[in-house]
Amino acid sequence: MSVPTAPSMKDVAALAGVSLGTVSNVLNRPQVVTEATRTRVLAAIDELGFVRNDSARQLRAGRSRTLAYVVLDVANPFFTDVERGVTDVADEHDLAVFLCNSAQDPRRQSRLLDLLEQQRVEGVLITPVDADDPGLERLAGRGTPVVVVDGTWPGHCSVSVDDVLGGDLAITHLLENGHRRIAFVGGPTSLRQVADRLEGARQAMTRGGANPEDLVVLETETLDVAHGRHAGSRLAGLPARRRPTAAFCANDLLALGLLQEATRLGIRVPEDLAIVGYDDIEFADAAAVPLSSVAQPRHLLGRTATELLLEEARSGASHQHRQVSYPPELVVRASTRITRN
Ligand code: RIB
Repeated sequence: MSVPTAPSMKDVAALAGVSLGTVSNVLNRPQVVTEATRTRVLAAIDELGFVRNDSARQLRAGRSRTLAYVVLDVANPFFTDVERGVTDVADEHDLAVFLCNSAQDPRRQSRLLDLLEQQRVEGVLITPVDADDPGLERLAGRGTPVVVVDGTWPGHCSVSVDDVLGGDLAITHLLENGHRRIAFVGGPTSLRQVADRLEGARQAMTRGGANPEDLVVLETETLDVAHGRHAGSRLAGLPARRRPTAAFCANDLLALGLLQEATRLGIRVPEDLAIVGYDDIEFADAAAVPLSSVAQPRHLLGRTATELLLEEARSGASHQHRQVSYPPELVVRASTRITRN
């Protein structure tokens, strides 16, 4: 059975009784066509179900009308919140956004970068598995603007939060609440964000007169709810005299998993275990015990990164690369709040 071919501009011209050039003008320069002709051509388009194919025009123009944002974990609301900022700016410039998931896999990230270059996207925003991936330099070096989101990339544009300060804020808050046996839950430390938060945690321990080596580090493979639950069962398995009274989690998904496991095991939060997360996603406030969290300006990260990307795409060689950094902010909620009777 032959598959019906899609109607072409030629079919539209024949049905409307006009030239191919007139159909093209109706689609691209309607102001140069009379109302009557425009109506006749649009009626033929509707009758045939013609859909314009921009790919050829875009390739002639050199770029498709799309941006791409490559994230570490599409299931993490942090990234979809950042993506909302990306899309707001893309909408202002009539651009579509490809949201791609590297799933923290460097090989998948590399394949995505190749595919996106072949798609001739206007530019690539990326929270990389590894900011030293040569694929980033290769892509940027061959003319596709690249901006790193939620990390730094010397010599190129990047937008991030000071994660060392963020880790410091979390631990300082716990020390001020009297905690000394504190756990850090997060990983892998090969992710710059995680390494910086852990560095900030240790920095705060030192400044607070505690031994940074006393931090109980539970490194996880990824930063999701399941690994937070697993960390909860590991903490519960420690002897009471060694069990931390507080935990700082490298993101809110880990903190939500830890909270869930603590609750299942009858560990009271915050009385037996205070918990601080990171990102301040919507579910932090909505948790059964609202989570204290180090907030990141997620929408602003997305907006700023996209504005930098389009500035580079539009201005080319005159563009000045910038590394933009925003401060984190501690939001205190019930999961660490001491209620003094
Ligand atoms: O992808 C893991 C984490 O890195 C996110 O939760 C966010 O904190 C980002 O910085």
